[in-house]
Amino acid sequence: MITTTISSFGISDIISLLIVFSIIYVTRFYYHYFTRHNPLPGPFPLPIVGSAYQQIGYGFNDWLLSLHKKYGDMYEIILAGQRLIVLCKPDLIENMILPSTKTKYSIRQPNTEGFVEYGFAGVGIAFNNDHKSWKYNRQFFTQALSTSNLNYQAIEWTNELWNEMESYWNNLGEDYELNLTKWMHRFTNEMIFRISTGVKNDAITCYYNMLISSNNNKNLLNEKENEKLKNSENFVESLETYMEGLIYFYTFNKFIRNNFPFIRGKVKKLLKNKDYLFDRLYNIVKERRIEIENTPLDQPLRHDMLTSYITANTPRDINVVKQADADLLRPMTDKEIFGNILDAVLGGTDTAANFICFIIYSLEHYPEVKQRLRQEFDRVLENDLTRPITYKDLDKLE
Ligand code: HEM
Repeated sequence: MITTTISSFGISDIISLLIVFSIIYVTRFYYHYFTRHNPLPGPFPLPIVGSAYQQIGYGFNDWLLSLHKKYGDMYEIILAGQRLIVLCKPDLIENMILPSTKTKYSIRQPNTEGFVEYGFAGVGIAFNNDHKSWKYNRQFFTQALSTSNLNYQAIEWTNELWNEMESYWNNLGEDYELNLTKWMHRFTNEMIFRISTGVKNDAITCYYNMLISSNNNKNLLNEKENEKLKNSENFVESLETYMEGLIYFYTFNKFIRNNFPFIRGKVKKLLKNKDYLFDRLYNIVKERRIEIENTPLDQPLRHDMLTSYITANTPRDINVVKQADADLLRPMTDKEIFGNILDAVLGGTDTAANFICFIIYSLEHYPEVKQRLRQEFDRVLENDLTRPITYKDLDKLE
């Protein structure tokens, strides 16, 4: 009886069903679209893809800028099934970023299923909407960053790395046209990673070697050095790929990510890269835990955020915990530590690199400001711009 029913259900019935489902889906989609609250101007969305089809041929930011020109200071788009309002004027944004618990806009970024699949929503700080877990992670993030030993160490590492970078620039010669964006991304990548984990990942050396190898058409390193740098380069690239991939999980819903040609393949590669990156970060946490366990209590430990996380609320903790909140008194798990490290690396690399580039760009456009800055450096560093900057100098800089 059942067999008969199935066999009499032919291809044409499946097509009819698909057509009926599609009509229901499209009708529902446009019903919601046309009856939405407070409609704003914006590109007309299509079912499934929303506004994403309009982005084809643009970078994400250029696309938003072009929509700003067309639709004004406040417009809406639909990405991954979510309605997003884009604000392009500071005073429209100002009342959303009040540091108050009474604000209507407490959730800064919804945890979409895309972000969860890509592994950074729900862990760490920046994309953690679980208030209790956010507060816990945030407490140790702030504590690690405000430890004076870590700050001294960070300044020493910054001086050291900047000198290393400058020596490469000198080797490349005066004719070399420096791509500041690329160098600064490498610089902040290596700095943030070192501060977060204590591990040097050679992002700058890798970039320099790539440049000289392509200039001379030959590799000047031995096999062991090559292997080490290749390992570092894979890691740096996996981080860059991870950040570039965020937009796929922001823009496209699960259906598009899993089914659309080109996008599906790219998403598969991004998820493979994510697994590689996360494995490496977890391994760093595990290895450091073992190192700390094997270090006698009377021997001091290196100062980095990872060490601070692992030792928090253990007999090795160097911080006096003032918090009476019982929830904050337990040690951190590997997953919590991993989330905080991922946040620092994701939150601190592009932001800091762009920040340095913008400063340099602006200083070149405002020579009078550049001159004042130079005078201030001369005063604080007593006309010796070659000596390493100290913690005290930073305090004196206005
Ligand atoms: C000039 C460089 C930087 C800029 C312009 C910048 C910008 C921002 C902004 C605007 C936010 C708020 C985002 C929101 O509320 O949705 C934020 C949050 C955050 N940033 Fe940065 N950031 C910079 C450097 C860093 C660095 C170096 C780190 C890590 C060491 C970092 C880690 C974080 C974290 C963890 C959050 C989330 C804080 C929370 O939710 O409590 N940022 N950043």
